[in-house]
Amino acid sequence: MDTTLCAFYRTARAGAVRLSDDGGPFGFDITVALLADDLVTGYDCDALVETGCHLGDTTDYLARRYPELPVYSCDIDPSYAAFTRRRVAKHRNARVEPVDSAALVNSAAAIHHRPLFFLDAHWGPDWPLARELEAIAAGIVLIHDFDIGHPRFSYDAYGDLVCGPNMLAAMSRPPERYFVPDPEADWPLPCLQTRRRAGVGILAVGLDSGPLDTHPHLITRHLEMAVTR
Ligand SMILES: C[S@@+](CC[C@H](N)C(=O)[O-])C[C@H]1O[C@@H](n2cnc3c(N)ncnc32)[C@H](O)[C@@H]1O
Repeated sequence: MDTTLCAFYRTARAGAVRLSDDGGPFGFDITVALLADDLVTGYDCDALVETGCHLGDTTDYLARRYPELPVYSCDIDPSYAAFTRRRVAKHRNARVEPVDSAALVNSAAAIHHRPLFFLDAHWGPDWPLARELEAIAAGIVLIHDFDIGHPRFSYDAYGDLVCGPNMLAAMSRPPERYFVPDPEADWPLPCLQTRRRAGVGILAVGLDSGPLDTHPHLITRHLEMAVTR
């Protein structure tokens, strides 16, 4: 936990130039970093894959926090990808490409068996989340800006299409269950984000959901009951 704490709060919040949460790794929500760490450990992840790096706050954090793991990120905007690539250039485990997120997921899925995917690519006219989910063969997936049904936690939407359970239901092989952080959970470190906080949806693709079922700060949601028609 102390390693996460030190790496997290030593990360510059470059994303503040544009992001409504003022930037920082995982939207400056350390409880998401703690959750990610539990999942990296619990699933013995062999790679970290972020989609949509913007100015590299989460990429930089992941590269420093997990020097033993390959960290991949990308951005469709070549200037963001170039900035982030320079930012993490001293970390030999990090690779940043100016490519579409689904292409990055595809190439990582071809060489790794248990990546942690942090899906955070959005803003453009084309929302790549559905294509990213289809490209994942196996891994643990954290979907940022996911509707967890709590007013403190924001989520993304493209018109009528909300980043939430209906997106999962549209997958060619939808999960029976997904997981969200318990908003009342007593995490070992407090979240210092006082502005926008993003919801997170978690699912296991092609892997046993055991570490999610037993995680003390996650709530299980049954997809069939969560979908709105
Ligand atoms: C919310 S920002 C990402 C923030 C970043 N993950 C962080 O933690 O600081 C979303 C980024 O996704 C990028 N993006 C949008 N569509 C994309 C796509 N199809 N492929 C890759 N990146 C994309 C945007 O250019 C933007 O930089």
